[in-house]
Amino acid sequence: MATDVLIVGGGGREHALAWKLKQSPSIGKLYIAPGNGGTRLVGENVPIEAIDFENLANFAEEKKISLTVIGPDNPLAEGIVDLFRLRGLRVWGPTKAAAHIEGSKAFAKNLMREAGVPTAEFEIFSNHDDALAYVRELGAPIVIKASGLSLGKGVYVCMTLAEAESALEEIMVQHVFKKSGDEVVIEEYLDGQEISIHALADGKDFVLFPPSQDHKQVGENDTGKNTGGMGAIAPVPWVGAEALKDIETRVVRPTLGALAEHGAPFSGILYPGLKMSSQGPKVLEFNARFGDPECQVYMRLLKTDLLDILEASADGKLAGTKIEWNTGFAVNIVLASGGYPDAYKKGFPVTGIEGADKVPGVVIFHAGIAIQGGNLVTSGGRVLGVSAVGDTLKIALDRAYEAVELINFEGKYFRRDIGAKALAQ
Ligand code: AMP
Ligand code: GLY
Repeated sequence: MATDVLIVGGGGREHALAWKLKQSPSIGKLYIAPGNGGTRLVGENVPIEAIDFENLANFAEEKKISLTVIGPDNPLAEGIVDLFRLRGLRVWGPTKAAAHIEGSKAFAKNLMREAGVPTAEFEIFSNHDDALAYVRELGAPIVIKASGLSLGKGVYVCMTLAEAESALEEIMVQHVFKKSGDEVVIEEYLDGQEISIHALADGKDFVLFPPSQDHKQVGENDTGKNTGGMGAIAPVPWVGAEALKDIETRVVRPTLGALAEHGAPFSGILYPGLKMSSQGPKVLEFNARFGDPECQVYMRLLKTDLLDILEASADGKLAGTKIEWNTGFAVNIVLASGGYPDAYKKGFPVTGIEGADKVPGVVIFHAGIAIQGGNLVTSGGRVLGVSAVGDTLKIALDRAYEAVELINFEGKYFRRDIGAKALAQ
């Protein structure tokens, strides 16, 4: 029997999930709430916001949806999975208690300390004077994080003491992140390259995906402000099977074990961001969902039926599951609105997507893009994800950048060095 699916969310990640689910031999109707201009091409958009749980659950009930797939962090942190389960609706993603590992950095750090998971040394403060004294004692470089969710903007990597002092001022005195900044985590600065790990879990068992790498800073050579992510590659050629095994043993397994011990077994995607330091892998943060743009490259490489593994994860039946991946590499280049991650203008017409989509190996995922009077216009910071696959990383990158040049909108911004470090290694 065909399986009807509802995807919650409306970014590049959700377009990639919808694109992949559409290829499943057992997919029935596919709905995306609220979706975007791209998801409309593979399923039916439903005008309900990702945070409007009651109406999402009503919709799932009414349409007899077999599986609801939750994309973004906010609804997970607010307990959408708990509500769906309470109403007897089948849903994929972690409960509120399990998603707390992303929603509270303080909780995540304490859990890591307890489970012996390698991470930067840290202290947690809720008082500005104490935090300031600690920062002055440790000196720079130092990292300051608002504990709650802050759309990826609550982290200050401070290379000088003055930067650290002004970060504390913004978070704890001016309250720029409101309640998310009531607690701050102050931690040791870690050197090394950053990678993304994704583990698909079902509350008991888990399967690791190949490693991927995002490029979080807005400027080339990893400079400037942090963004949601400017481009990704997978797999990461210099992270071998042994390193991945080490991450599984020292990070993923003990973390999932500790969550279960806390009465919060994790099902869904556990995505630790790691620094590969000279002393081995160290966790920067945990996310309780697919990374975006990482999800876009994973969907391009995944060979196994996505619906099968999401259902196995939701039903607690992952044991013995093997996930197969295509050989070669997948990459993604994010096209952003000029000015992002600060203020930017919206509403510029976007042209050239059709031609770009025809470049061999290329698929374009929509994110911050809307339809106005029948035309595509920019509507967000990250506008499009241009993905490409290839037998080598170089081929995949060349294809993606060829497609990037064919797409135009006023203020189009992208990094020209996605994957460059991995290529040089
Ligand atoms: P987070 O949201 O905690 O992943 O932090 C955002 C970004 O800040 C990370 O992707 C890193 O690039 C950087 N960062 C966070 N913590 C540290 C740290 N302890 N040392 C160095 N860089 C860090
Ligand atoms: N790629 C970064 C994130 O999804 O948090």
